[in-house]
Amino acid sequence: MGRLTDLFRRERPASPPPPPTDAASAKVIAFYDAFTDYDAQANQGWLGPQVSFGLVYPHLAPSQHIVDFGVGTGLGAALFRKAGCTIIGLDASAGLLAACGAKGICEALHLHDLNQAPYPIESASADHIVCNGVLHFIPDLGVVLDEANRILRPGGAFYFDVARILSPPNPEAREGIATGSGQRMILHPDAAIQELLAARGLKVSASLPYFFFDEMFEIDGIVTLTRLHFQAYLCHKPA
Ligand SMILES: C[S@@+](CC[C@H](N)C(=O)[O-])C[C@H]1O[C@@H](n2cnc3c(N)ncnc32)[C@H](O)[C@@H]1O
Repeated sequence: MGRLTDLFRRERPASPPPPPTDAASAKVIAFYDAFTDYDAQANQGWLGPQVSFGLVYPHLAPSQHIVDFGVGTGLGAALFRKAGCTIIGLDASAGLLAACGAKGICEALHLHDLNQAPYPIESASADHIVCNGVLHFIPDLGVVLDEANRILRPGGAFYFDVARILSPPNPEAREGIATGSGQRMILHPDAAIQELLAARGLKVSASLPYFFFDEMFEIDGIVTLTRLHFQAYLCHKPA
């Protein structure tokens, strides 16, 4: 166990988190472009869409405008559409956007890298914003929060989640590797998130862990288990 803890320590860079690199983004985008059975896999336990819908629902009214940062194939957008909302989706994967477009859920879809501001959305045009299962690919949360703050109307809600490694425990870890997919995950510690939200006047009204999953890997012939979860946040722009 000591060795595993050392492994994660070695993966932890000095604060602040690493800047986005074209190579890292390109790898993630290529991974999702090739993910042709995304919905089938997501339906085996990925609850981000349901959690985001459930937390935003008390603040929702029919005909409201939702912006989905990292809309993917539209699993979350479909729930908001069912509730009578219109949705604009942003994503960096042309492949997943094409799958989403084929479902006819969204009013508009934009191929856009969330590391790059400004996003192609008008200021104060969204009633609510959701971002499911995306921010572990985004090193600088400040960019996303600035854009969410700009795009949200006063009183609107912003739902997002971040990945966390629970075991071995390392609450300050900034990076990890999802061994199943080989993806590099950027981990945003709670203290950093709270600081970024407070600096923008965004108020957290709910936070909960969900979607626990285990990753097994082998070091020197010893099979080891790492436990991860997602932490959901709902915050509001003051009215
Ligand atoms: C786990 S999927 C989640 C998709 C969808 N939100 C859902 O809940 O099913 C991660 C999504 O993030 C998108 N993504 C990753 N990096 C991105 C970036 N830099 N800019 C925009 N989208 C990105 C991927 O293309 C993919 O659609």
